[in-house]
Amino acid sequence: MSEPVTHAMNGEIAVVTVDSPPVNTLAREVRAGLKTSFEALRGDPAVKAIVLACAGRTFLSGGDMREFETGILEPGYHEVLRLIEDSAVPVVAALYGSVMGGGLETAIACHYRIAHKGTRLGLPEITLGIIPGAGGTQRMPRLIGLEPTLDMALSGKPLSVADAQKVGLVDKSVDDDVTAAAVAWARELVAAGKGPRRTREMTVAGAERAAEVIAARRAAAAKGFKNRNSYNVLLDAVLAAAELPFDQGIARERELSSQVERAVEGRAYRHLFFAERELRKIPGLTADVASRKIARVGVVGAGTMGGGISMCFANAGIPVTLVDAKPEALDRGLATIRKNYERSVTRGSLDAPTMERRVALITPTLDYAALGDADLIIEAVFENMALKKDIFGKLDAVAKPGAILGTNTSTLDIDEIAAVTKRPQDVIGLHFFSPANVMRLLEIVQCARTAPDVVMTALDVARTIKKVGVVAKVCYGFIGNRMMDPYGREAERCVLEGATPAEVDGALEDFGMAMGILAVYDMAGIDIGHLTRVERAHLLPEDPTFYRATALLVERGWLGQKTGRGYYRYDSPDRKRTPDPEAIAMFAAEAARLGVPQRKPSKQEIQERCLYAMINEGARILEEGVAIRASDIDIVYTAGYGFPSYRGGPMFYADTVGLKAVLDKILEFQKTLDPQYWQPAPLLEKLAREGSSFAQWQSAATASSNKA
Ligand SMILES: NC(=O)c1ccc[n+]([C@@H]2O[C@H](COP(=O)([O-])OP(=O)(O)OC[C@H]3O[C@@H](n4cnc5c(N)ncnc54)[C@H](O)[C@@H]3O)[C@@H](O)[C@H]2O)c1
Repeated sequence: MSEPVTHAMNGEIAVVTVDSPPVNTLAREVRAGLKTSFEALRGDPAVKAIVLACAGRTFLSGGDMREFETGILEPGYHEVLRLIEDSAVPVVAALYGSVMGGGLETAIACHYRIAHKGTRLGLPEITLGIIPGAGGTQRMPRLIGLEPTLDMALSGKPLSVADAQKVGLVDKSVDDDVTAAAVAWARELVAAGKGPRRTREMTVAGAERAAEVIAARRAAAAKGFKNRNSYNVLLDAVLAAAELPFDQGIARERELSSQVERAVEGRAYRHLFFAERELRKIPGLTADVASRKIARVGVVGAGTMGGGISMCFANAGIPVTLVDAKPEALDRGLATIRKNYERSVTRGSLDAPTMERRVALITPTLDYAALGDADLIIEAVFENMALKKDIFGKLDAVAKPGAILGTNTSTLDIDEIAAVTKRPQDVIGLHFFSPANVMRLLEIVQCARTAPDVVMTALDVARTIKKVGVVAKVCYGFIGNRMMDPYGREAERCVLEGATPAEVDGALEDFGMAMGILAVYDMAGIDIGHLTRVERAHLLPEDPTFYRATALLVERGWLGQKTGRGYYRYDSPDRKRTPDPEAIAMFAAEAARLGVPQRKPSKQEIQERCLYAMINEGARILEEGVAIRASDIDIVYTAGYGFPSYRGGPMFYADTVGLKAVLDKILEFQKTLDPQYWQPAPLLEKLAREGSSFAQWQSAATASSNKA
């Protein structure tokens, strides 16, 4: 392999070039190379200035995530950046691409910065629950001032070059070759007798108001970023820049940075980061399995889901044939698609010509024969087995050989659907989440006979349409909805016991769920879940309190937001949810009829009942092999169900609580609540008794499958 960092003279200017594909990560080898080059150039009288440049897609893009596992290897960031900053001749950074995190921290250790116009510059650490740890919290306020640093680091959002120039982060911008421009500028600096301009020697603009500014930001973070400590730690670090000399500030940053890295929040984000990288490792699916080419897609059903799914493909530039049984449904579906796009245009996130191009990619038709040239067909009609079987029969007749037949069913047995076709190997579940054009999750349901290359294609399709694809096996509700069932059951039961919907949802939202489950039911339509329970009544517990609150609401016709009331009322001018005393009284009367004693479960009890019921089901799913890894479940929940990423997903969260504590609580609930619902999953029991965790179980399982 060639050296990742080299240097060469261009007249009196030394150009240090990093070339470490794919994205010039500041890995150990790159830092070592920078050290070697800057040491070699130090004191060389022929060198009048240095340009730090990169080859390939981008300037140094960021730190190396692998070092979270190994710890930072030598040479460390501070040593290398100090060496660059110490240079006795001016150092000019030539920026382009994505200059993030450690990449930007390196850029601000240089003395001057010139950027290509399209460059994005940011400190995204906070989105991973950590803080800039390579001097960023100390140099950035010195370079651009307190408020701009806080705006950038607390949001994690990158700046454009124009904005970076406004705050003085970038000195100059160019349209063409930034390295050549940097060399030319370095020459000018030398000619003008300009020397180094060290960021660490600058004073922080706004330092005198630092305490006040930081206190205001702290108050805002407490509101906007509930349960998150990394914001406070970041504010502590930036405050240190205003109050301490540089070296002491760096020492403080180091201490604070290692504190957040070890904290649950930082570990949770890293867990999810690495979990996403595992998703394509599927037993029996070797890397040499070639995926099928998907150039045209068919979607059956122009309703809520079919419309959103069509948009996903149109957004990726893939033509879609959209079939419905009724012309009016087709018209309505297309009108909704257009309305959704128009909203993006109004908001400014999409331009009108792009919208027109996307809409034009969707061809509506009533004729199934039009699906004959589709490489992938996704069915999204009503959730009804007989109907889906009938449609798969039709698809089998019209689809070309090798076409993949997907279903968006949320609950039905896909093996049974596949069995009506002569090509069960080509059938797969593709479970999108509503709104399908927005939600990141795609559950890929591998049926008993699905061919490996069909699974591989589904994983690639997920990537093409910018979703995170998680493979699950067939069972009722797959991973996500199956674990929602016991979670919702406990929420509902708490309502019957006398907690108000607002108390139940409040407890779940305080934990960090994006929305309480009862409000979710109101949003999705209360009848949806109820109807699946009616169909499956013969399989459900004979318990008159089971999901009784929902059933009552359905009986009253209070189906949620679409009817203006459900668990809550939605008739205030802003259509926000408000408590409904009538519904609350109705639940109390029903509880009296059923003999459910009235009490007020505490916030902690509501949280533990709902979450531990969910986690227990997760353990069963793992044992049955419905999910391949505990971390896959965590991705499903954080990407598709509003579980807080800073808690790492339900299984990671269980590990942080400790499986023994979770088990003990479940055993306590077995005594104090309805015992039929509180049978600990054997895997949870085993791991808890061994003092183990889902993570340990997963790595042992991975190690043994690697050996096999
Ligand atoms: N809505 C959700 O939140 C959600 C989420 C995930 C999965 N799903 C699943 O997606 C599927 C569709 O749900 P939806 O909410 O989009 O339903 P929907 O009622 O909004 O749309 C269904 C569409 O299918 C059409 N249709 C019915 N029979 C047809 C036929 N024989 N041929 C062609 N089109 C036909 C209907 O005219 C209607 O336009 C269901 O299986 C559902 O379980 C829904």
